[in-house]
Amino acid sequence: MKIFTRTKEIEEYVLQLRLTGKTTGFVATMGALHQGHLSLIQQAQQANDVVICSIFVNPTQFNDPADLEKYPRPIVADIQKLEQAGCDVLFNPDVSEIYATHEQWHLNIGELEHLLEGKFRPGHYQGVTQVVYKLFNIVKPDTAYFGQKDYQQVMVISKMVQLLNMPVKLVMCPILREPDGLAMSSRNIHLTADDRLHSLILSKTLNWVKDNFNSDKIPEIKAAAEQLINNEPGVELEYFEIVDGDTLHPANQNTKNIVALVAARVGKTRLIDNVIISS
Ligand code: PAF
Repeated sequence: MKIFTRTKEIEEYVLQLRLTGKTTGFVATMGALHQGHLSLIQQAQQANDVVICSIFVNPTQFNDPADLEKYPRPIVADIQKLEQAGCDVLFNPDVSEIYATHEQWHLNIGELEHLLEGKFRPGHYQGVTQVVYKLFNIVKPDTAYFGQKDYQQVMVISKMVQLLNMPVKLVMCPILREPDGLAMSSRNIHLTADDRLHSLILSKTLNWVKDNFNSDKIPEIKAAAEQLINNEPGVELEYFEIVDGDTLHPANQNTKNIVALVAARVGKTRLIDNVIISS
């Protein structure tokens, strides 16, 4: 695997790839790689000549400095995992390679900015669009792969691509889960043994909602889901919403694409998860 830390160098490399007609698939990550990330790499491998992964813990998308501070950075293990997965290229820049000092950014992504995650993590998606815009400009991938686990992130990036006419195709890949149902996440390593048990209420509730969706009206299903989560010790629910998957507005009986999304603090760790109910 080729490893680049300098923007100029990877730009030259991808230019050569383009000149030789190679297609590129891109997986942007913040490292602490797990099977979920590796499944994105696999999906990229199936459809592209060359797969490029980035590892960059992006400071601008953290609204809590303590969260940024404790974000795991196991770079040696990550490189090993990427080598084993057969990834072709890693871009692992320093912050100074991506950002100028006191850089400003704002992209009008409309109400996506303030709904769901936006309400609880103000500014988060500005930071995400800022870094993904830069990474897309540097890597110039044909196709980029993102996980469904951050469903709203995929919508935000897709909105950015549309607004800025960026020549990249986006693919949303399914959530990977541990055998007991917990959605894979780099943050799971912060869960204590107790948190780990309590965290299962999130996927269990999402599954319950999916299985029982037609048995009651949406507000009743949502209220029952909220109660299940609120009854779980050690879990502090931030939101449980059943929405139109195209707008993130509350779903009604006429909505075609329905997604249930949840965010909660389990112990000290914030987790998100979702399930597509119909599409
Ligand atoms: O999903 C993530 O890991 C990050 O938000 C991303 C897309 C790599 C941008 O920093």
